[in-house]
Amino acid sequence: METLKVGIVGAGGIAAQHGIAWQNNAPRGEIVAVADISEARARAVADRFTEGRARVHTDIGALVSDPEVEAVDICLPHHLHTEAIVAAARAGKAILCEKPLCTSLEDAATIASVLQETSVTFVMAHNQLFQPSLIEGRRLLTAGVLGRPYVLRSTEAFQHWAARTDLASGSPGSDESPWAWRVDTKRMGGGEVLDTGWHASYRLLALADDRPVEVTAMMERFFIPELRAEDTGILLVRFASGAIGQIVTSWAFAPVDGWHFEVIGEHGSIAGGPARTVHKLHGWENPAERTHEPVHTFTAEVTHFLDVVQRGVQSVAPFEAGARVLQLTTGAYRAVAERQVIALPENPVEPGLPLEPQPGH
Ligand SMILES: NC(=O)c1ccc[n+]([C@@H]2O[C@H](COP(=O)([O-])OP(=O)(O)OC[C@H]3O[C@@H](n4cnc5c(N)ncnc54)[C@H](O)[C@@H]3O)[C@@H](O)[C@H]2O)c1
Repeated sequence: METLKVGIVGAGGIAAQHGIAWQNNAPRGEIVAVADISEARARAVADRFTEGRARVHTDIGALVSDPEVEAVDICLPHHLHTEAIVAAARAGKAILCEKPLCTSLEDAATIASVLQETSVTFVMAHNQLFQPSLIEGRRLLTAGVLGRPYVLRSTEAFQHWAARTDLASGSPGSDESPWAWRVDTKRMGGGEVLDTGWHASYRLLALADDRPVEVTAMMERFFIPELRAEDTGILLVRFASGAIGQIVTSWAFAPVDGWHFEVIGEHGSIAGGPARTVHKLHGWENPAERTHEPVHTFTAEVTHFLDVVQRGVQSVAPFEAGARVLQLTTGAYRAVAERQVIALPENPVEPGLPLEPQPGH
């Protein structure tokens, strides 16, 4: 069996999930190198997931130019994604990149041209696409069960006590702390909407399977006062078909019903959550329900990446999917700053612009 040799760059919180995912995909994938500015963290990941076999590096450049590394798995703070993607692409390595794609559409345009130039494989780590309820919901939608979709909702929200207590206890800590870069809006690229909200956004876009053409939003900081940006956002999205989308995302609360998504259409509605999918057509007395076994979505994401690299399968999360989420999110930030509805151009790396007022409206 073919084995893809991967280097993980960034050995913090999410690298642990990626480590499990690569282990679960052995022998199709093997971690051969780990890099972090903290040598101790890189070594801890190498020890935990490769029994110390993986080489340890302390910078991005050393990992991407490691001759044994065939693919780079980017688990870095947001402001370092562009640098790592560009370096990995120029070194001819396949790339799996954590969300968000990067922190600005200018960077996204740079990434687009480097990917085009180098033709390397690039997959966004959109792990929640592999949630069984989302797969089932999309299957029902593609089969036309709802007819025309009218309204789509996607929710990613929880009460982030760890953030609140860590930040309330003093400074965010050294540069190696996950909060040092997250409270710095420049390195973070935004607030909660760009971070956890990214999942809600790509889920909404996947359900709609349509181009978002307008966005507006309201955002607030309810729960984590030390955060300089928002901890909560509600976005309204208009799709090309006319369907209306809503994103609710927060580190301040978890909604009572726990649904990840709902789609309401011509013939009825579908809702999906962590362990089940329900759908109910108009006139039915009771919904049909499917329950799902839990899936380690990071493992499924790495399996998909391996399918793309080793078997030429088309990616469910290509560069364009990441760029579209970034365009939507940056459009939402502009909508909040200017209290406007923002029109989103067809090219996903072009920024949204305030919608011209319509005569008669
Ligand atoms: N998919 C998900 O559910 C999910 C969840 C959490 C985080 N993430 C994403 O994963 C990425 C990392 O987040 P995290 O929570 O693991 O952050 P983290 O701060 O815990 O880890 C980042 C690591 O990068 C290292 N680092 C910083 N600068 C570096 C440099 N120049 N070179 C090498 N290493 C460097 C830090 O020392 C740290 O160990 C982010 O993009 C985040 O949005 C995704």
